[in-house]
Amino acid sequence: MLMKLKGQVLDKRSWASHMTNSPTLIVMVGLPARGKTYVSKKLTRYLNWIGVPTKVFNLGQYRREAVKSYKSYEFFRHDNEEAMKIRKECALAALKDVKIYLTDEKGQIAVFDATNTTRERRDLILDFARDNAFKVFFVESVCDDPDVIAANIKEVKVSSPDYADCEEDRIMDDFLKRIECYKVTYEPLDPDDYDKDLSFIKVINVGRRFLVNRVQDYIQSKIVYYLMNIHVYPRTIYLSRHGESEYNSIGRLGGDSGLSSRGKQYAEALRQFVDEQKIPDLKVWTSQLRRTIQTAEALGVPYEQWKILNEIDASYQDLVQRVEPVIMELERQGNVLVIAHQAVMRCLIAYFMDKGADELPYLKCPLHTVLKLTPVAYGCKMESVYLNVEAVNTHRDRPLNVSLNRTREEALSTVPHHK
Ligand code: SIN
Repeated sequence: MLMKLKGQVLDKRSWASHMTNSPTLIVMVGLPARGKTYVSKKLTRYLNWIGVPTKVFNLGQYRREAVKSYKSYEFFRHDNEEAMKIRKECALAALKDVKIYLTDEKGQIAVFDATNTTRERRDLILDFARDNAFKVFFVESVCDDPDVIAANIKEVKVSSPDYADCEEDRIMDDFLKRIECYKVTYEPLDPDDYDKDLSFIKVINVGRRFLVNRVQDYIQSKIVYYLMNIHVYPRTIYLSRHGESEYNSIGRLGGDSGLSSRGKQYAEALRQFVDEQKIPDLKVWTSQLRRTIQTAEALGVPYEQWKILNEIDASYQDLVQRVEPVIMELERQGNVLVIAHQAVMRCLIAYFMDKGADELPYLKCPLHTVLKLTPVAYGCKMESVYLNVEAVNTHRDRPLNVSLNRTREEALSTVPHHK
């Protein structure tokens, strides 16, 4: 089907460049175990964090719904006609849900997490997108490093519902055969000819090289920028507020006071904690306010000051915009200890732990406590380590929703009091 726009006739491969504000369908492409689900989830978390409503649609989940028990790789053979029919039906069901999300539910970006390795499948998606006036951006992960592929199978496929109660060797064997099934019909995106008019990024060997083609708009350029900054190597991020400040100790927030005596004790406890953790190549970042700098000074190691880590001076959404470069740089780095402030830390935690804007102002980050963030399969684990130095509590709970039917006195009697 061709689309007409102001007298021009546009085909499915070029119509989208004429649209500005239509929703976007991000289409993952690549053989199994190329990190597509990892990228889909991580990108979705980032887009939601910057305020763009985004949701992942994982085809494997639709297939597991349709075929309750997975038997073996034979299901993925291209000559298994019955299975091919089921797989196409699952793809159509997922696209139907994508349409509901991007139209009725007012989503802005849908990520279609599937292999999409054939031109036939991608053409079907392009037809669907053009008929619904969605833009399409392909993200292809190409990887030929056997160690990376084996690590991916071990990390995430071993815990896949497809292989419940299976031995690791059998999982590895079956999954490698599943990949071979896809290789028979795999047609990578072709930037020189067949796919030259499409918008896409090819991520080659987990970010060693990139090929970017026809970026259509601001959000696609942000996606490219994000994908060019993330990495998959293990590391830990430590978040800590400064030690208790003189202002904190008299119940004041903000300002630029130095550490109280308990704050200084915390800085010393943090030094011991960092020594005990034996963290290779640790970088330490602070804000430009005295209380974080004094906390870092006690560690006796070099540290870097970031003005954008200074405490909140506007709304939380402005703060998210402000700290985005820190997130991007954290994504590039290895082990980092960030010594910052309550509101700034809440924004960082919201990003790593996938917390929505409504929860963000109430996330708990107490004084004198290190939050240790470690990547796990498709997300992040957060441990809270209290360093045994007392401090004031600067947390304020979310005010209770006051029902319009209640009297003011009734409502006030249920509001917790803070000392
Ligand atoms: C799956 O069924 O696990 C994924 C199907 C696909 O994306 O090819």
